[in-house]
This record gives sequence, structure tokens and C-alpha cells, in this order.
Amino acid sequence: MKGRNSFGSRFGVLVAMAGSAVGLGNLWRFPYLLGEDGGGAFLFVYLLFVVVLCIPIMICEFLIGRRSQTDAFGAFKELVPGSKWGFVGLMGVFASVFIVSFYSVVGGWSVNYLVSSLQFKFTSGSCDPSEMFSTLVSSPVKPVIYHLIFLLFTALIIAAGVKKGIERYTKLMMPLLFVMIIIIAIRSMTLPGASAGLRYLFKPDFSKIDGQVLLDALGQAFFSLSLGIGTILTYASYVKKEENILKCTAYTSIADTLFAIIAGCAIMPAVFSFGLEPGQGPGLVFVTLPGIFAQLPLGGVAAILFFFTLFLAALTSCISMLEVIVALMVDEFKMKRGVACVITFIFFGISGTLCSLSQGTLADLHILGKNIFDLCDFCSANILMPLGAIFIVLFVGWKMPKPDVIDELTNGGTVKTPAWLLKAIYIIIRYIAPVFISIIFLAGMLK
Ligand code: TRP
Repeated sequence: MKGRNSFGSRFGVLVAMAGSAVGLGNLWRFPYLLGEDGGGAFLFVYLLFVVVLCIPIMICEFLIGRRSQTDAFGAFKELVPGSKWGFVGLMGVFASVFIVSFYSVVGGWSVNYLVSSLQFKFTSGSCDPSEMFSTLVSSPVKPVIYHLIFLLFTALIIAAGVKKGIERYTKLMMPLLFVMIIIIAIRSMTLPGASAGLRYLFKPDFSKIDGQVLLDALGQAFFSLSLGIGTILTYASYVKKEENILKCTAYTSIADTLFAIIAGCAIMPAVFSFGLEPGQGPGLVFVTLPGIFAQLPLGGVAAILFFFTLFLAALTSCISMLEVIVALMVDEFKMKRGVACVITFIFFGISGTLCSLSQGTLADLHILGKNIFDLCDFCSANILMPLGAIFIVLFVGWKMPKPDVIDELTNGGTVKTPAWLLKAIYIIIRYIAPVFISIIFLAGMLK
């Protein structure tokens, strides 16, 4: 599309994709699911899914976006004229509505923790991390305000546009976050009794694997890699034709997975060393980390740096989700970027507030046996993302002409790719991915 924004450089693309992938999914959601779903067994299936299913799905999304150069709704029509597959893009928008609603609340928690770290609360000796967390999330006003602050940052950066907004901030923050999480992991692994946590993490007990664990691991792999809702598709639509798709997707997945594993090494040993309950749910990271900072030389400063980078990581991921919606409003409804941002801010301001209140004031309001926060998480990661992924691989495997797929993967034959690799990827896309995702999806649903 003429006049469409695009990323400034190869490094910019990679950084934006990694910025989308690395976020609260790695540092908050992954460790607590690990704790709930049996540690090593969960990690094992998770890694398997990333390599066998998720990388090919990411390739599909990337390919659709880059070839069509348009938003997640228009892309399908653009590639197969007359096709009605635009609904996949709409489903993605629907899914982002669920995700952003709770994601921005957790983003707000991280802003609150940043503020607390600036007051050196974690190292003052008087902080009870469990109580601090539960008081924060169940209060009716404070987390709502922090959620709105987080959302405002997101909307402002999106309004500034892709290149100026997303690329610039992400480049700076990723390396710093990486250094911080490594420092925390090293301290955590050297705490007394840490080895029990490492065993929990790396010694799988395969008897723990059931339909629920499989679906959780699949949902988490999609969540962490930003798959199934058109995020990668939308970002790829800003990518120039010369970039190498296989390289971009491989680097992104490796960076994201490395982050998740290191986050596991940072959290699990400390959980065991402090005698905490690994399966306590969404508070796990927020309760465990302050304890590690208290044990770290210059822990107060480390906490500030960590929560600052965590906030930025959450921000870049949230931006990538909102961008799906804003891009669609701009490309399909010809709305001004700024107007689209204002509308989304108001909408998520309200839906996020409901999610936040469901941790306290509205805790008794249950739909399908879940509070609003958990319902949003469940509907997106366990239902809409797997469904979206199935449709995306079916589209590339069965609707798009094979020569188009190969042409896009190899940039018109200019990128030398081994024939066996292309063949393997195509077989996964056409047969293995749709069948396996469907089976896991049904197994988890019918449990
Ligand atoms: N992957 C991000 C994280 O780990 C969250 C995220 C960004 C996301 N874009 C997405 C999740 C699209 C699902 C779909 O925090």
C-alpha cells in the first residue's frame, strides 16, 4: 500500500517482533503456569510446541502480512481475491479485545511495582510481598488508576506511529531487560535450597501431563510468541520485501523462548528457597521477586531497573496488540490514527477496569465459573488463539497457491533455502499443525 509506514531497518523489524513477543507472557504468565502445571513436564511440552507448531505458524502469519502489506482483515482478501477469510482477522481483533483488557491491568500492576521500587519498599525490611500483592490487586481504585496510566502510555506511543513510536523505544529496552533478568536468575539460583526449584523446572514428571497441561502449554506458547490474533501479521505488513522471513521468525522465537526459560530460572528456585506455593497463580512473580531483591546487593537499585524494564516490555507487547486494532480501523474504516487511539483508549479503559475490579469488588461475579479477568485470559489463550492459528495455517496450506507461498518464503527465489526445509515447513503447515492443534484444543476443552 502506498504511503504506508514501514520499519526503518532489519534490526528495527527484529526488535519490534521480539518486543512484541517478550513481555508479561514470559515474566509473569509463564512462571505461574509452570508452577500450576507441574514444572518440568510443562516446560517440556511447551518447548516441543514452540519448535514443531509455533515457528511454522509464525512463518504463516509473517508471510500473509508481508505479502499483502495490509491489516489482518484485508490481508486475506488481498491474497486470495474474493475469499471470505477476513473473518480470521476479525476473530483476531476480538481476541485482542480480551487480551488487552487483562494485559493492561497486569501492566498497571507492574507500573505500581515500579513506583514502589522507587520508594525502596522491597528492601526496607518491612515489606510482606504476599500481603502487598493481594492488597494492591483487590483494592477498588489504585490498580484501576495504574491500569489507565499504562493504557495511556500505550495509546500515546501508538498514536506516534510505527517507526517513531515502536522501533525507538524497543531498541533500548530489550538488552537492558535481558541483563536484569540474568542477574536476578543468578541470585535466585544461588539462594539456599534453590536446587529443589531447578529440579522442579528441569526434571519432568511426565505423569503430570494431561489435556489441561497440553492446552495450557499450547495457549502459553501462542501467547508468548504473539500468535493467532494477527499481531505478527500486522507487524509483517510493515516489513520490506527484502527481509528474510525464516531468519526473522527464527530469531524472534529463540529470543522469546530464552527469555521464558531464564524467567523460569529466576522464579522457581526462589519459590522453593522461600517456601512459597508454586501453584498459587497470577501473583507468583509479584510475590517472589521482592524477596529476591531483598537478598541482592544493591537490591533496591536492581528492583528499579527491573520493574522499569518490565514495564517497557509489557508496553511494547501491549502496543503490538493494540496495533492490530488500530491498523484495522485506519486501513478499513479510513479513520485517523489519533482518533482510533482515543476510541481504543476509552474502550479498554472500561473493559480493563472491569477486569481489575474482578480481583476484588467484583470477585463474586462469575461467568462460566470464572471471574472476568480469568474469563478474558481463558477465552483468548485457550480458545481464540488456537482457533485463529488453525485458520491461519489452513489458509496458507490450502487456500494460497503453493507457488505463492514458496515465492514469499524465498523472496522470489533470491534467498537460498534448502529444499528439504521448505518441504518440511510446508508439510507441517498443511497437515501436522492443523491436526495437532485441533486435537489438543478438543482434548483441553472436553476434559
Ligand atoms: N507475547 C506477549 C507477551 O508475552 C503478549 C502479546 C503481544 C500477545 N501480542 C500478542 C499475546 C498477540 C497474544 C497475541 O507478553
